[in-house]
Order: sequence, then structure tokens, then C-alpha cells
Amino acid sequence: MQKIQEFLAGAKEEFNKKWEQNPISNGKVDDFDRLRTLGTGSFGRVMLVQHRTSKNYYAIKILDKQKIVKLKQVEHTLNEKKILYCCNFPFLISLKFSFKDNSYLYLVLEFVGGGEMFNHLRKARKFTENQVKFYAAQVTMAFEYLHSLDILYRDLKPENLLLDTNGYVKVADFGFAKRVKGRTWTLCGTPEYLAPEIILSKGYNKAVDWWALGVLIYEMAAGYPPFAADQPIQIYEKIVSGKVKYPGHFSSDTKDIIKNLLQLDLTKRYGNMKNGIQDIRNHKFFEEIDWLAVFHRSVTPSFIPRTEGPGDDSHFEEYDEEPMHMSATNKFSKEFTDF
Ligand SMILES: Nc1ncnc2c1ncn2[C@@H]1O[C@H](COP(=O)(O)OP(=O)(O)O)[C@@H](O)[C@H]1O
Ligand SMILES: [Mg+2]
Repeated sequence: MQKIQEFLAGAKEEFNKKWEQNPISNGKVDDFDRLRTLGTGSFGRVMLVQHRTSKNYYAIKILDKQKIVKLKQVEHTLNEKKILYCCNFPFLISLKFSFKDNSYLYLVLEFVGGGEMFNHLRKARKFTENQVKFYAAQVTMAFEYLHSLDILYRDLKPENLLLDTNGYVKVADFGFAKRVKGRTWTLCGTPEYLAPEIILSKGYNKAVDWWALGVLIYEMAAGYPPFAADQPIQIYEKIVSGKVKYPGHFSSDTKDIIKNLLQLDLTKRYGNMKNGIQDIRNHKFFEEIDWLAVFHRSVTPSFIPRTEGPGDDSHFEEYDEEPMHMSATNKFSKEFTDF
């Protein structure tokens, strides 16, 4: 079996080669039948589609150019496409086609049929410790891959984690992913998952993703996030205070890994010290995880979402459908040249 380190060395070469290429446009919206909305966001929606000739199912992320420009997210959207195009890792969603027209940008993604981790977590109330470890290990490896390519992910949360029909994790939503060597300053993410250094407007780095992993492990094990309140400002106060209350049922290993990830002092935060990710991998919390076997997807998950056939959308919530509005003129073509 190929070792993860060997894989990462090859992956870097593959990624860098693609990074130098010009963006590709392959397809058009009429190649697909739009079946129904799977999720919505600030700039558009994600729909289940079926390719008219191949009959394959995909999830298409449709982004409204006008809304992106209004909300000043042009740069983020260009990053999203370019990074998705260049990435290739078992626990990250993969991009199959992308194109644009007068009004919209389109990212055609593999359809991940098990649904959002968010819904499974709310339904189960909380995950078993085994499940928490299994999912956390995959997110850890996904971040190891991204960070080795100098990519920050910046939007970890259960809504952005999908389960595939085998019960493995796919990290979705590269809307805030950014390739950056060193530090960056943009305030983005979701309040409950923001690292203190982002809130305090300091330059920040990859360590923000490891903080978010600590929030995720807590939320998966407890059923609710460690820093919660009605107003974002109250959430931020709790985050920067560094105080965390742990439910009585948490094991000492669970508490300990979370403590080391939700570490205010960046020189002591796991993932950000001289041994990098090894401090996380070698923590007692992950003792039972066979990293290589998980990487090769040869472990049978304890929970497998039940699905019937490749286009089964039953794990997704229902949304109101809205017609698309096609402009007669090509909007913002300059801004989106690189898409
Ligand atoms: N590849 C996919 N397969 C299945 N569902 C998806 C896929 N990508 C996104 N979704 C669904 O659409 C939702 C919104 O997509 P996301 O990329 O997170 O957009 P936003 O940036 O608006 O949050 C997700 O939370 C998920 O429910
Ligand atoms: Mg999202």
C-alpha cells in the first residue's frame, strides 16, 4: 500500500503542474437536466443534475455573478474554482466540469449522496467516539494534503462535510479556500468555528484550520459546538476567553486533544508546532485509527447512510426551487475572465 507521505510528494507535483495551466471550460448548462436543489448559499445554490447523454448524476454549484460582485467575493470564487480544479484527494470533493454563461458560474462536482454530516449529527444528537475519531482522522488527512500545498481551507463545519454512500467523508465548499504562503488577514468563516486570531484581526495561518478541527471534534462528540450564543459578538467573547466547558461523558483523551487544538497560544497549538501534524496523528485519541487503512478506504465505517441507487437524493433537505434568470448580455465578463 502506498504511504501517505509518498502520495503527498507526488500530489504536490501534480498540483503545481495544474496550477500553472489556464482555467478550463468544458460543458454548458444545457448538457444537464436539473433535478432539484440540494443546498443553498449566499451566491447561489447547489442542484442535483443528470448529464443528458452519459446519464451520470452530479451536483452543480450555480453561482450568480451579480451577487458575487455585490458581496465582493470575486477573488474567493476564482480561488474556489482554481483550487478545486487542481486538487485530487480521497476526502475532498472533486470537480468534473466547469463553465460560465451570461449570468452564472458553474462548478459540476461529483454528487455525494450520503448527505451533510450536519443532518446526521442532529438526527443522532451526537456521534459515538468511534465515529468521531473516524471522521476527524479523514478531516485531519484532508488538511494535511491542503496545507502541504499551502492551501488554507477556512470553512470547516458539519454543513460543509458530506458523507458518501460508503460512509466516508468528503470535504465540500472551497468558497474560502486560499493558496497562501505565510499569513493572511481576511475575516471569513463561520462564527462558531473562527479561531481567536481571526477575531482579533491578527495575521493568521494554517493553525486556524487546526483550531476549527478542535471545534468540530467537540461538536461531533457533544452534539453542540463549544462556543455558542445568540449573537456572534457573544460567541467571539467566549472564543477569545479561551474557556471551554466539557460534557461529563467526554473521555480524557477526547478532552485532551480538543484542549490542544483549542489552544489560544499559537506556539502550543497542535498542528502548528515543530512536529506539525504528527502531534495530532500520534495523540492517544487516535490510538485505534489505522491511518493508512482509512486513507485507502479499507476500514468498514460503523455508520453507512442507506441509499438506493446513484441518484438517490433522500438524505438532502427540501428547498424551494427558483427559476434561473438568464441575462441577454454577458455580465461582468472582465471580473470573471479567470473562471
Ligand atoms: N458535491 C456535492 N454533493 C452533494 N451535495 C452537495 C455537494 N456540494 C454541495 N452540496 C450541498 O450544497 C450545500 C451548499 O454547498 P456549498 O458548496 O457548501 O455552498 P455555500 O458556499 O453556499 O455554502 C452543501 O452544504 C451541501 O448540502
Ligand atoms: Mg457551505
